[in-house]
Amino acid sequence: MSEISPGLENVYIKYTALTYIDGEKGIMRYRGYDINELAEKSTFEKVSYLMLFGELPDSKELINFNDSINRNLRLDGYLKTILKNMPENADALGLLQTLLSAKASSEINYKYSADNDSKKVPEILGNVLSMVANICRIKTGRDIIDPEPLNDYSSTFLHACFDSFTKDQADAMNSALILYMDHEIPASTTAALVTASTLSDMYSSLASAVTALRGPLHGGAAEGAYRQFQEIGSPGNVEKWFNENIVNGKKRLVGFGHRVYRTYDPRLKTFKKYAEMLSVTPEQKNILEIAKKLEMLGVEKFGKKGIYTNTDFYSGIVFNALGFPVDMFTTLFGLSRVTGILAHIMEYVETQERLIRPRAIYNGKDYREYKE
Ligand code: ACO
Repeated sequence: MSEISPGLENVYIKYTALTYIDGEKGIMRYRGYDINELAEKSTFEKVSYLMLFGELPDSKELINFNDSINRNLRLDGYLKTILKNMPENADALGLLQTLLSAKASSEINYKYSADNDSKKVPEILGNVLSMVANICRIKTGRDIIDPEPLNDYSSTFLHACFDSFTKDQADAMNSALILYMDHEIPASTTAALVTASTLSDMYSSLASAVTALRGPLHGGAAEGAYRQFQEIGSPGNVEKWFNENIVNGKKRLVGFGHRVYRTYDPRLKTFKKYAEMLSVTPEQKNILEIAKKLEMLGVEKFGKKGIYTNTDFYSGIVFNALGFPVDMFTTLFGLSRVTGILAHIMEYVETQERLIRPRAIYNGKDYREYKE
């Protein structure tokens, strides 16, 4: 047996009461509640409160939580200046990383306390909404604004991005934000925990998370799956493309397979429902039909190996139908994941705090004398 655990595979670094995953049965729950039930019936704010503070909020707690988020929607002047001065083709997630780091630079007097962190959370949720909405505005040729608070987080966000939206779009955005909110401790959340374990501030920890999310092995599958559908081009070309690229080629089917799930990703159900509901233009219908045909072939070929459709297969179709450009998809994932990352930081630092400092086994040269 290896003395090290490459990729920290099967290494447990914390207890969690946040997300339960049964990869064999395809079950996922937040604090005991089924995620699809939450995505269908609840709101981003309620589920965020549940994840962060342990229980669903009563009406007074919800009003206070929403008010605190809404008081923090204004983007600081220096962040607007940074955003305006970044290169036109800057990567959307890179922009979020930059804004979070800039915010961290203002945390001069930060000193860890559980109370301070709890109070900071609504500020961060408000700020990040504004950051991502303005990144989207820049990417779609709009001016930078201070978002206007509407009834709920999803509506405020969509309005801030596009100035208008429909009820179905707001419902889909709300569900997407809930479904991507947490997934135990993937690379990005782990990166945040490493930073938080040094008792660094929450913006620095979030910047670490976003930095890790950026790599192609982690974030980016929703974008990859969508670009795959675009490359296929038409439903009539699916079988030929599949045989050439997947069966006989070396490509992996993006949006298929998962380290944890051996069956369908439970988040898929709701994303697929919204993909079907919101695909109305001929181009959107074309992409949806390509996806469905490709899914059928993928399940037929890989299902027996326990490789099934994951959530990213259909989430990009939903994001596209909401009006987001493809290069925003991973940043939207980042926006939803902020709550989960903050909840893990609070859970870890408050109850199990220990500096994360693994070891490496030295296998380099023995002592050598230094000669000029
Ligand atoms: N297409 C074709 N074959 C696949 C796929 C796929 N999408 N996924 C796994 N396999 C095959 C591998 O080739 C391998 O076959 P072999 O045993 O004959 O060599 C076997 O399944 C096991 O593959 P691993 O890479 O060991 O499985 P792992 O659990 O590490 O991979 C991963 C998980 C990285 C997600 C993989 O399934 C993949 O690359 N999928 C495509 C990218 C993707 O959709 N990523 C999104 C992840 S989900 C999310 O982030 C929400």
